[in-house]
Amino acid sequence: MRSFLHLDDLDDDGLGWVLDRARRLEAAPIQSSLRDKVVALLFMNPSLRTLASMQAGIAQLGGTSVVLQPGQGTWTLEWRRGQVMNEGAAEHMQEALPVLEGYADALAIRCFAGGSSLAETLEDPVLRAASALVTKPLINLESATAHPCQSLADWKTMDDLDLPRRGGRFVLSWAWHPRALPLAVPAGTLHMACRRGMEVTLLAPPSHVLPEPMLARARAAAERSGGSLRISADRAEALEGAQVVYAKSWGAPALIGRPEEEAELRRGLEDWCVAESWFDHAAPEARFMHCLPVRRNVVVRDEVLDSARSVVIRQAHNRLHVQKALLELMLGARN
Ligand code: CP
Repeated sequence: MRSFLHLDDLDDDGLGWVLDRARRLEAAPIQSSLRDKVVALLFMNPSLRTLASMQAGIAQLGGTSVVLQPGQGTWTLEWRRGQVMNEGAAEHMQEALPVLEGYADALAIRCFAGGSSLAETLEDPVLRAASALVTKPLINLESATAHPCQSLADWKTMDDLDLPRRGGRFVLSWAWHPRALPLAVPAGTLHMACRRGMEVTLLAPPSHVLPEPMLARARAAAERSGGSLRISADRAEALEGAQVVYAKSWGAPALIGRPEEEAELRRGLEDWCVAESWFDHAAPEARFMHCLPVRRNVVVRDEVLDSARSVVIRQAHNRLHVQKALLELMLGARN
């Protein structure tokens, strides 16, 4: 596997190996499997978990990481072909990435959506541009359409908790947020739960249902795994029997690039803040998941985040274990 850009870049055998190896690495974290290996981490956008867990994981495997943050000590980068670069960006990816891969054994990149349109978001143009420029292993650390390392960690988290794969009841709920957030995590989460074989409900106001190509990919995964996907705007009905409630905010897909109209659409939806009352009767045992960072008492209330049902810290810790296993797989250090 040269690239890990989407969860589907791992076949079932590879996915099973990563999840099993992650469990073994959690028990025995210090290894030498990446000795003499260098991984370049290019962050076009901010991060806490992804940056820290990649650096810590590479160090724990005996490797070295090089962190580059364009605009913060690293030249600002252009990615579009054919640009007259007479504005902000001082360097083009066309030089930067081939240079970096001369120093490193693998590259990893975070490159969020540009926010200009849904069509552009779905094309994932920065990730595609990066992928076309490198020949060494490339890992997606969250792009416009996917956050596959998060998906791996979330899958392992549910395994850790003995939550059923086939037939487990999983609800991905939209939550309110003061800004229109990207689609990568909800799209990746929906696909991950469907591929896991779960009975998945997308709970969202009609204005914020994910775009059809993302739903189609999740449906196809559900068909292959024996899972299912349905869409609901009825909270009580959707939460009935849920074993997992995964909250995330995202912008209205149809209004990407039109932030004022999108904000108008979100007005009045502030009660989409996950509260303990959501679980009272319909889902008393359900676990609460979120990829973090999360805005307390905006996306989810303290009473949920601070309760035993919340597994958000376990999710974040699992980023470390699954990424270490993934790096071993991609760098040929499979144990
Ligand atoms: N969940 C996640 O990717 O967190 P960061 O944005 O902090 O890396």
